[in-house]
Amino acid sequence: MSTAEETSTEKLRTGKPFALWVMFGGLLYFGLALLALIVSLLVQDLTLFFILLSDPFILIPLVFVALFVLGAFASLTGKRWAFVLAAVVSIVFIIFFLPLLVNRLSNPAAGDFWLAISGLPALILVAIFSILALANAKGGLARKRYLATPESWGGLLTVAVVGFVIGGLIVGNIAATSITRILGGAAEAADIRIVLGAENPQTEVPFDPATLTVAVGDTVTWYNADIAVHTVTSDTGLFDSGDLAPGDTWSYTFAEAGTYTYHCIPHAFMKGTVVVS
Ligand code: CO
Repeated sequence: MSTAEETSTEKLRTGKPFALWVMFGGLLYFGLALLALIVSLLVQDLTLFFILLSDPFILIPLVFVALFVLGAFASLTGKRWAFVLAAVVSIVFIIFFLPLLVNRLSNPAAGDFWLAISGLPALILVAIFSILALANAKGGLARKRYLATPESWGGLLTVAVVGFVIGGLIVGNIAATSITRILGGAAEAADIRIVLGAENPQTEVPFDPATLTVAVGDTVTWYNADIAVHTVTSDTGLFDSGDLAPGDTWSYTFAEAGTYTYHCIPHAFMKGTVVVS
């Protein structure tokens, strides 16, 4: 064996196995991404912060953030308990949040689409590598090529997953731009438009115009230009649109004069008025 070959074999044996870096990268990425999402939600709506303090159940995502970051650094130690932690935390999170993540995948224009498209593959990759690492912990990870070095099917799998995520983000971004453009442009036929971002409490005029004046017998049409589902619901129970998906319209004919206030069921802070004279 030549000196160069000996050095490279030695490196393989003493350097950290590739599998540990995959676990570290996947867990740290997901932990920080989840934290970024939580912080951005809190900044958007400060009332959430008080809900957070009053309801311990909502702390669960923050506990997961801590476990992901802890799991990431623990993985680098190569200890068996760290593999157990990485496997359990990633699998439990996938099971708990799979319905939510899959739901987010269906709407590329939603603010947290990027977390779903990148997070789910990252967690699955971590789960696979941590289980394989656990199974091979006794003999040492360096003895399995797919755990020891990126020049193996382990490395190929990692590259494939990273490629899938980047592709998904690009396609999602293109779709999001189209969705926003289609929703924004098609509103001309409607009298009242549910604006993009209406689900954000800081949007001052979620129903635009906030007050519409029409004549007795007129039909008023609402258009949902937002990426979220909304309703047009009378405060007195006179009318209710039911769920309006993005791009949906709904009409109501006002037969009597009066002032009609309405709101959105999922977002009670969304309020509008129709004055019939
Ligand atoms: Co709403």
